[in-house]
Amino acid sequence: MVTLVRTTQELNDIRSKETRPVGFVPTMGNLHQGHISLLERALTEYEVVYFSIFVNPKQFGPNEDFNRYPRTLEQDINLIEELTKRFPKKEVVVYSPKDPQEVFPESKNQNVSVLGLSTMLEGKIRPGHFDGVATVVYRLFELMKPTSAYFGLKDFQQYLVIRQMVKDLQMPIKIVGMPIIREAEGLALSSRNQYLSPEQKSTSLLISRTLKEITKTINNKRANLSQAQTFISTLLKDPNWNYLEMRDAETLSEDISHSKQITILAVYQMGTTRLLDNTQVEIE
Ligand code: PAF
Repeated sequence: MVTLVRTTQELNDIRSKETRPVGFVPTMGNLHQGHISLLERALTEYEVVYFSIFVNPKQFGPNEDFNRYPRTLEQDINLIEELTKRFPKKEVVVYSPKDPQEVFPESKNQNVSVLGLSTMLEGKIRPGHFDGVATVVYRLFELMKPTSAYFGLKDFQQYLVIRQMVKDLQMPIKIVGMPIIREAEGLALSSRNQYLSPEQKSTSLLISRTLKEITKTINNKRANLSQAQTFISTLLKDPNWNYLEMRDAETLSEDISHSKQITILAVYQMGTTRLLDNTQVEIE
């Protein structure tokens, strides 16, 4: 069963009567299989799943795509209903607030900032972005009171920021990171892929291919990291890489000399669209 609520009052009424543990999937809507994989996992683990659809103004910069970000509530609800048919005994409560005031009333003038992790890489290019993400996720956690919350690893830095926030604030919530879902040829699914022209889409395949090549060069061996770094330096001659970096997968530190797991984080600029991707590599 899927219930759609459009106000925080309605949400609070339903949530206050719920006695079972709750799984939670936060999204900005325009759902694709990546989001659906999060909901599917949540439905396998919980009787009741809360699912938010909210394009959060706080995480967009002044010249970013807040206004044109695709809003497709009807289509999203259909996708959720389609999946939920496979879980006939489960319940999904979709919270899609009509107005940002529902989430951020004037009385709740709070800001959450995860220091360090929020100002490097993506945070350096999009100042304030992760404060906006942490603030809305904190607020949504306040409303949903979930036992577990599910995030896609495509936004790997976002996942680490949320994990750190929960740890720092001692919130009793399990943060589950879910694998990137890709198109058959490798492009990581994203709501922003629809901004791409057919030519840009075919060029974009180089991102996942590059991550694979770097992973192959490393071949899980610390001794190969410097060769991988040299390879990355040659790739960076293409100015469309906003960044392409190897970092420690726990801390995002640049010092990977002792890392057991590293992450390769990539952002490629395709016209006005920035495409994010990443992968994780174990080091023996
Ligand atoms: O990943 C997203 O879609 C958003 O950043 C999130 C976590 C829903 C917060 O607005």
